[in-house]
Amino acid sequence: MTELISWPKTIVPDIRAALKDGMARLSSANVPSHTLAAELLLMYVLGCDRAWLYAHAEDPIDAGALRRYFALISRRAAGEPTQYLTGKQEFWGLEFEVTPAVLIPRPETEHLIEVALERLGARGIKINMRTGVPSPALRIVDVGTGSGCIAVALARELPHANVYATDVSFDALAVARRNAASHCVADRIHFVETDLLTAFEPSREPKFDLIISNPPYVARDEAPALPREVRDHEPHAALFGGPAGSEIYARLIDQSAERLNHKGILVLELGYSSASHVVDLLSARPDWTRVKITDDLAGIPRVLAAQLA
Ligand SMILES: C[S@@+](CC[C@H](N)C(=O)[O-])C[C@H]1O[C@@H](n2cnc3c(N)ncnc32)[C@H](O)[C@@H]1O
Repeated sequence: MTELISWPKTIVPDIRAALKDGMARLSSANVPSHTLAAELLLMYVLGCDRAWLYAHAEDPIDAGALRRYFALISRRAAGEPTQYLTGKQEFWGLEFEVTPAVLIPRPETEHLIEVALERLGARGIKINMRTGVPSPALRIVDVGTGSGCIAVALARELPHANVYATDVSFDALAVARRNAASHCVADRIHFVETDLLTAFEPSREPKFDLIISNPPYVARDEAPALPREVRDHEPHAALFGGPAGSEIYARLIDQSAERLNHKGILVLELGYSSASHVVDLLSARPDWTRVKITDDLAGIPRVLAAQLA
């Protein structure tokens, strides 16, 4: 039920008063980053940016906008993530549509893009394009694409790449297709509904230069410790990798070894404590070289890159 605002009828609330009230309600509901959330929701309702919001802080706010704002504040206070309420999240400087069918892209996942571009020598590829010398078309696949954020970011960075993106979720793929269209790369991303890389039969399909993935890696029994925003609202297929969380890496590494070109690159996002397990999986077979782990800004091992020998 939407909570009704209880200002006296004689008072015409202005934008500042509405914002302050929104912040107070989110703060008392222990919403993390409550100031930012209250701002984003009001900017969404008014269709404005932050500069406009503060420049017009004394403007009256009409009753319809106020009702819509406090309906969203109530939903946020009850645990719904701000991004599902506004339907958007920024990733790699691009705005992505998000719905409850997809994981909300995280800033730390941007490290995957950085590592992949570094390994591919992307700078050299771009220089070749500017001088007009055609680059060889890279073949890339993003496994578990969700909103499509990784596939779209790579397609934008690498205009000569052919990108594939897989997911087991039909609904997630629909969101990813819309994001590819809104970022003008729909003609270069091929979306495939499949389990990991199963649809790409190694004996029939050309191999890939880069396989990249942010797979589900949370352990089932960690669910109670997750923030309610994550546990109760983000898709469980995007979160949980199995009882231990890291099960999906073994299958993904096996499938990747059969589907990468000679010297092809594997880039994986790592779960909180999965680095040593994934390194052991790679060390168990002679196929992999140049194994390197990159930490995120919090100092947590976040990205593993390896090359097929
Ligand atoms: C952690 S989310 C990552 C989404 C997106 N790539 C990102 O980084 O924000 C994992 C995604 O993998 C998908 N997924 C889970 N199991 C899968 C499987 N066996 N094969 C393909 N995709 C899978 C989920 O539906 C979800 O969209």
